[in-house]
Amino acid sequence: MNPSTTIRDVQASDRAWVRTFLRQRFGSTKVVSRGVLHQADELPGLIGAHEGAPNALLTYCVRDGDLEVVSLHAAIARQGLGSRLLAAAAERAHDLACRRLWLITTNDNQPAIEFYKRRGLRLVAVHRGAIAESRKLKPEIPLRGVEGRPIEDEVEFELPLV
Ligand SMILES: CC(C)(COP(=O)(O)OP(=O)(O)OC[C@H]1O[C@@H](n2cnc3c(N)ncnc32)[C@H](O)[C@@H]1OP(=O)(O)O)[C@@H](O)C(=O)NCCC(=O)NCCS
Repeated sequence: MNPSTTIRDVQASDRAWVRTFLRQRFGSTKVVSRGVLHQADELPGLIGAHEGAPNALLTYCVRDGDLEVVSLHAAIARQGLGSRLLAAAAERAHDLACRRLWLITTNDNQPAIEFYKRRGLRLVAVHRGAIAESRKLKPEIPLRGVEGRPIEDEVEFELPLV
């Protein structure tokens, strides 16, 4: 573990930073998953800071006894920030007596798919064509994503906690 990396909860005073960070890293504060439109900047979240500067963010939503990771972005790659935020979210889910942590990524995002597999999450479903439905809630979802691949499917990962 990198000793200069710290994780803390998003505070009310972080909201402006959260909005700016999501727009810079993701292009939007809105996230659609499984037909639900989330306003990610209003959700509870965890901030990862490297050498004092906040540069990674995870937002989450707790519903029906499950914790969904709604967004996860690290501005400094491969310094362990993404892994630490994911571990902190799993700990939060455990503390809240959730049955599982789950999340959606998209088929184009092979780096994220690889990252979640390496962190021990299980790929539990591919919701084929789901992004067409998501675009009805968020028309600005681009047609192509990572490395120009078409964004078409939701890929669901989970970490069982019980
Ligand atoms: C995915 C993301 C959150 C990972 O965060 P990170 O802080 O870079 O990841 P870590 O430093 O904790 O890396 C952990 C592991 O992931 C692997 N990994 C990270 N980026 C990877 C990539 N682009 N391709 C393959 N493996 C990758 C590393 O090899 C490492 O594995 P190891 O520790 O077993 O060697 C970050 O790359 C990111 O913000 N990506 C863009 C946004 C995104 O796609 N978010 C997910 C959307 S659902």
